[in-house]
Amino acid sequence: MTVTRIELLSQFVGQTVTLRGWVYDRTSKGKLHFLLMRDGSGIAQCVIFKGNVGEDVFQAFAAAGQESSIELVGTVKADARAPGGFEIDVQSGRVLQSAQNYPITPKEHGIEYLMEHRHLWLRSKKPWATMRVRHAVIMAIRNFFDERGFTCMDAPIFTPNACEGTSTLFEVPYFEQTAYLTQSGQLYAEAAAMALGRVYTFGPTFRAEKSKTRRHLTEFWMIEPEMAFATLDDVMTLAEDMLSSVVAHVLKTRRAELAVLERDVSKLEKIVTPFPRITYEEASRILLDHPDIKGTELAFKPGEDFGAPHETIISNLYDRPVMVHRYPAAIKAFYMKRDPADPTKCLSVDVLGSEGVGEIIGGSQREDDLALLLERIRHEKLPEEAFQWYLDLRRFGSVPHGGFGLGLERTVAWICGIEHVREAIPFPRTIYRLTP
Ligand code: 4AD
Ligand code: MG
Repeated sequence: MTVTRIELLSQFVGQTVTLRGWVYDRTSKGKLHFLLMRDGSGIAQCVIFKGNVGEDVFQAFAAAGQESSIELVGTVKADARAPGGFEIDVQSGRVLQSAQNYPITPKEHGIEYLMEHRHLWLRSKKPWATMRVRHAVIMAIRNFFDERGFTCMDAPIFTPNACEGTSTLFEVPYFEQTAYLTQSGQLYAEAAAMALGRVYTFGPTFRAEKSKTRRHLTEFWMIEPEMAFATLDDVMTLAEDMLSSVVAHVLKTRRAELAVLERDVSKLEKIVTPFPRITYEEASRILLDHPDIKGTELAFKPGEDFGAPHETIISNLYDRPVMVHRYPAAIKAFYMKRDPADPTKCLSVDVLGSEGVGEIIGGSQREDDLALLLERIRHEKLPEEAFQWYLDLRRFGSVPHGGFGLGLERTVAWICGIEHVREAIPFPRTIYRLTP
């Protein structure tokens, strides 16, 4: 008997197949069980008739609670009314392990309870759909870069110094020294770009974020492309091309999952290039005049970084992500190149996702001048010795270059229409959560 997966049932209409999985739900009527079976690839309705499977098997299924592991043999019928579009007419079956009192029932549970049971909650429809979208996003990103000649060059996770400011560093004892968990692979991606031209890193990154917001994890995954011979404009073009192609891939391959998530796909269909590009100054002017915040405690202060309500206002002006560029150099990282047209600004870009989700990408053109970079390192009181290797990149064949970092969880949450990033990663780590 062919063993197959629920997502492949359309290839087996009229045939008899074996399915292996778990009981998702069951209702029974006299001599019939209507079983919703899940196998990781989807959910199928299976009809078990006592007259077909015999008394013992029928009773075993009657006693098998939610999430019992099972194996079924049955004929595949197309049925538009059934979830997924197919029904299995069961001929025989086995309960592999009969589970009782599964802690997550179809009734509503609070988010804390669900997070405590994340190891089981992953089996439910919404986390399942989210993880399938996350996978599609990862595949789309890897393919996007591969097609454009980028080499994947992963950066180390133990690092000797900070990349994104010293306030969010995790310290780790490292034999006789102190190491830090990486906040970003960027500095290493820059070295790799000088070796291979176009590269990207894709790995876990860590920030000791004390904030308890819907956007912050202490461990998250970041994709960081870096290109030699690139300007800020090149970086922005790469960002919009990548995001639009990722969304297109998800729309093409994950329709069923988006439906489970009740995502309004018409919003995603609008994510096509070009994305609007506005300067920090333009965004500031919009915020200063905005009636919702003018004169309130949320009022925007010129020269400062945008807060979440500010990002929401800007992003709600458009139906696709917006790229805000040229922030004040004083509020951005030491490695960003100054804007030759206005040295108080830097050649940076933040991409704000649509529908008010806030920043999903941060990037810039990098300072490629040795003296200016050294000055920035001294100004920020960073340990000069630790940055000697990074300065070497400006001593030996320095070229204009740049790239960005895309936060995977924020991107997945945005595409899925999920409010909080903790649901966009299998096992979230936040200031309050280290388990399961
Ligand atoms: O803007 P960030 O801090 O930029 C960098 O780390 C650069 N070195 C990237 C580069 O140019 N190669 O972070 C980049 C992205 C943010 O836009 C956000 O999506 C995500 O990483 N991010 C977080 N996601 C979840 N939790 C956090 N605590 C995050 N901090 C940043
Ligand atoms: Mg940022």
